[in-house]
Amino acid sequence: MTALATLNRRLDDVFHIGKGVGANRVGGTPEEDAACELAAAWMQEAGLEVEIDDRGNVIGRLRGRRPDLPEVWTGSHLDSVPEGGRFDGALGVVAGLDAVCAAGRCERTLGVVVFRDEETGCHGSRWRVRHGSLPGSYVELHVEQGPRLERAGAPVGVVTSIAGIVRCTREFEGRADHAGTTPMDARTDALAAAAEYVLRVRDVAVRIEAAVATVGQLEVEPGAANVVPARVQVTVDARAPDQERLHRLVSELGLQDAHYEIPPVRLSPDVLRKEVERRGLPVVELTSGAGHDAGVLAAAGVESSMLFVRSLNGGASHSPEEHSSDADIELAVDVLTSTLQRLAGP
Ligand code: HGY
Ligand code: MN
Ligand code: MN
Repeated sequence: MTALATLNRRLDDVFHIGKGVGANRVGGTPEEDAACELAAAWMQEAGLEVEIDDRGNVIGRLRGRRPDLPEVWTGSHLDSVPEGGRFDGALGVVAGLDAVCAAGRCERTLGVVVFRDEETGCHGSRWRVRHGSLPGSYVELHVEQGPRLERAGAPVGVVTSIAGIVRCTREFEGRADHAGTTPMDARTDALAAAAEYVLRVRDVAVRIEAAVATVGQLEVEPGAANVVPARVQVTVDARAPDQERLHRLVSELGLQDAHYEIPPVRLSPDVLRKEVERRGLPVVELTSGAGHDAGVLAAAGVESSMLFVRSLNGGASHSPEEHSSDADIELAVDVLTSTLQRLAGP
């Protein structure tokens, strides 16, 4: 079986773990566990030394000639959003395993890592940064999850920075009342207040260039058609390419008590860029609006880089419409392999 056929079979095997529409391997669920067990088995079959740390992160190592030197890792995550795409995270793990095996034994130890629970807050990589050993450098292959490479006609892109993210929940208190007997001027309607805030989230972000902000979850209590809402909780996900604009979002939307924050980070794209140039490919440099484990490692001082693979279908992602072509994936694995060799010393 060709390397590409094996890669696609493995993507299929992961994709079919969760039932329903799209990928369903939400962080912390048995489906994410099953995907990580599968990846560990593939690593063992490939002859890698497998470590599973106390947070469940999985690292497969191909020992180098100089195990004393800082290691070089690639990888990504296997959890997904509900009804997610086939490639988000999973491609970086499967392609990373391919690339480590294709790179062969180098001077430095090569690792392929599965970080746990990336989608809800990069929990696995943030735990590893605080509690575990880290590589000297990290290269993550990931689908772009946007339309820019497709519009540029480029199969791959080099990520130069990752936007900062602040995630927060906001509660709105009202008073439960009878929907039929309570006059409009006597109500304290929590959902009406939340709705005004949701529109404010949109309007503030629209006014800040390249900033985005999303209310993706909203819970209403008691949640009956004939009861004026008493309590509403919303989640806010706010992002900006630099600290100044992120700070404006936080202050204008009152997100100071965020439960999750990753600063905007610059990556170390030089080696990756050279490998793309060496193949005569267009070098499209991008900042990532999506958060990634690479951002967590970069913020912790690991020399991190990211290679984006063109997302087709207008860049659809976090959706079953997510798609990248075999040709682009094959090319990206080849670029990743030679980048790992260059970083690890062939
Ligand atoms: O939400 C994100 O930016 C990524 O998909 N985890
Ligand atoms: Mn991802
Ligand atoms: Mn994602």
